[in-house]
Amino acid sequence: PETDEAAHFQAKVDREIKIEPRDWMPDGYRKTLVRQISQHAHSEIVGMLPEGTWVTRAPSLRRKVQLLAKIQDEGGHGLYLYSAAETLGTSREEMVDALHEGRAKYSNIFNYPVLSWADIGAIGWLVDGAAIINQIALCRCSYGPYARAMERICREESFHQRQGYEIMMSMAFGTKEQKRMAQSALDRWWWPSLMMFGPSDRESAHSSQSMQWKIKRVSNDDLRQQFIDMTVPQADYLGLRMPDPDLKWNEERGHYDFGEIDWAELKRVVSGDGPCNKERMAARIKAHEDGAWVRDAAAAYAEKQRMRKEA
Ligand code: ACO
Repeated sequence: PETDEAAHFQAKVDREIKIEPRDWMPDGYRKTLVRQISQHAHSEIVGMLPEGTWVTRAPSLRRKVQLLAKIQDEGGHGLYLYSAAETLGTSREEMVDALHEGRAKYSNIFNYPVLSWADIGAIGWLVDGAAIINQIALCRCSYGPYARAMERICREESFHQRQGYEIMMSMAFGTKEQKRMAQSALDRWWWPSLMMFGPSDRESAHSSQSMQWKIKRVSNDDLRQQFIDMTVPQADYLGLRMPDPDLKWNEERGHYDFGEIDWAELKRVVSGDGPCNKERMAARIKAHEDGAWVRDAAAAYAEKQRMRKEA
């Protein structure tokens, strides 16, 4: 009976034995993973767009090469993640359709505009920094294919974070105007980066079940605090000011206290009404439609090979 299977499943999870694609799993576990992994994949793919707008405007050949490499990595991360989700029985086509039809989410952060070169630095430093904190925890996810994908992705993300911080260093230690640009980028990206960790634990719909299944290993608020504690000293080193008057080291807690996040803004941006949602989705759908001939050609070629083998 299913109850025995469910108990056996939970016992495996509790003993830190990875769940693999052919193992029995509760429907809810499968559904949660497809939701989270596909949204994660969509975030990587949509995440290529804001940075892509700066490839032609990178200030030097070296910066262009770094940025191109990072954007290509993100494309690769999206593909690993779609493959990991496909092991759960949902096709990539279905997942992509869900994104294009507005039925699937992607990270809030990619709906903000990239206004200057300093923003490219801030994205690498803050957005990839936040992604690493979240993804290190996911390396211990109970689902094998997702956990293993995360290990490789984290290594690549750490290069992304460093290239971003290095841009911030050049700007913050550069001319007055460059420092001003760096500060403005930090002012605009700080709060949306904190929102990447999701709603507060109190509001998080999926957390308690996902923690029990060990899909999530650390809560949204704990990861957010970890990110803040790591990042504040990095801003200090750059000589930049965090845009939060309530940010202050709390000796007793051993953590930074910080101001209230604008949860209404997160809700708005996640539900399609952020500064760039429409632009991002239009660009994504156009790229998908423009690429239809490539998919058709690959399918026709595969069919030809199959016929040849049969003949
Ligand atoms: N942006 C968009 N939607 C979000 C965000 C966010 N930053 N945070 C939470 N949400 C959504 C959830 O997807 C969920 O919506 P749904 O039920 O329609 O799927 C809802 O808000 C409620 O949130 P939670 O119950 O806390 O959701 P969950 O348990 O899935 O936790 C989290 C959210 C932490 C983002 C988790 O899904 C996760 O770790 N995902 C993998 C990491 C990831 O997606 N990173 C993408 C950005 S990093 C990068 O790509 C470089």
